[in-house]
Amino acid sequence: MSVENSARTVAELDDYRKEALASLAKIEDERALEAWYRSELAPSGQATAWRRKVGLLSREERPAFGKAVNSVAAELEQAFSAKREQIKLEALVQRMRAESVDVTLPSRAHAVGGYHPVTLMLREIYDIFKLMGFQVFESPHVELDLYNFQLLNIPPDHPARDMQDTFWISDDVLLRTHTSPGQIRAMQALCPGPVRVILPGLCYRFEEITARSEIQFHQVEGLAVGPTIRMSDLKGILLLYAKLAFGEHQAVRLRGSYFPFTEPSVEVDIKCTICAGKGCRVCKYTGWLEMLGAGLVHPAVLRNGGYDPAKVRGFAFGMGVERQILLRHEINDIRYFFQNDLRFLKQFA
Ligand code: DAH
Repeated sequence: MSVENSARTVAELDDYRKEALASLAKIEDERALEAWYRSELAPSGQATAWRRKVGLLSREERPAFGKAVNSVAAELEQAFSAKREQIKLEALVQRMRAESVDVTLPSRAHAVGGYHPVTLMLREIYDIFKLMGFQVFESPHVELDLYNFQLLNIPPDHPARDMQDTFWISDDVLLRTHTSPGQIRAMQALCPGPVRVILPGLCYRFEEITARSEIQFHQVEGLAVGPTIRMSDLKGILLLYAKLAFGEHQAVRLRGSYFPFTEPSVEVDIKCTICAGKGCRVCKYTGWLEMLGAGLVHPAVLRNGGYDPAKVRGFAFGMGVERQILLRHEINDIRYFFQNDLRFLKQFA
């Protein structure tokens, strides 16, 4: 190869160097970078082609040109590495930007659950009766006819059964229709000691569901047994309950009634919670609202609990829980308590 030839080749090498660097400079992503590497620096690429050209030169020219080719190849290699680092860094920066957390954003509100209004009312009832020395005693929801009726002085075919339409599980097993069977269970558990318990929980009746009646509802039963229990004790604790649960202005009124498991039996009224006794539509202008049934425990029932009615006496009462919440808040539909509608429940939480 002549001197001019080799001079031209050196100039071409320099053009090539510039072009390769220029095209590298334009590259913005890893894919294009790989393609550039394949066409320039890979064994099948341009740099190798240039090395091959060295062999075509004369012996004297070879060392200088070979050096020039090597140095171009090395420069490209270095530029390639630098570019690769730069692309990696840019990708990282971009990812960090995309995945970054804006710590100045307000946090999302936590959904915190609340208590069901029945739970809240029950807890209030527990607290009030705890003050008066009553313990909570739980008894089964699935009951025997024996406890739900017979031991409470309601034999088969007694008309009192008609008042409590029953979900029967078999001929002698049922869903308790009231919390009163717990009276027998509490007495049997605590006899011969004194009894001062409340028995809370769901009761079940085979009723048409309407605004005023549900197939399930809560009651709280109360029972006290001891040698000196009198009607005035019953009236006293119910008056205190009325005042603590419904306000200091409250009063109780006892009216004669009938329950098979108490003798005498009473219905207990409190002053109307809406008009405070003045008379309104809710209390039918009487000023009073019926709150619960109560009485002195029937001697036969005391005996069924294991006690000697000649030695001890007792009082009992049974109150509806939903009804008290309805009256407090002027709610007109008992079904709300069992529909799990948050619009209703949230108002109590
Ligand atoms: N168990 C009765 C009912 O569900 C309520 C009741 C009345 C309970 C008088 C009593 C009581 O303890 O003495 O209708």
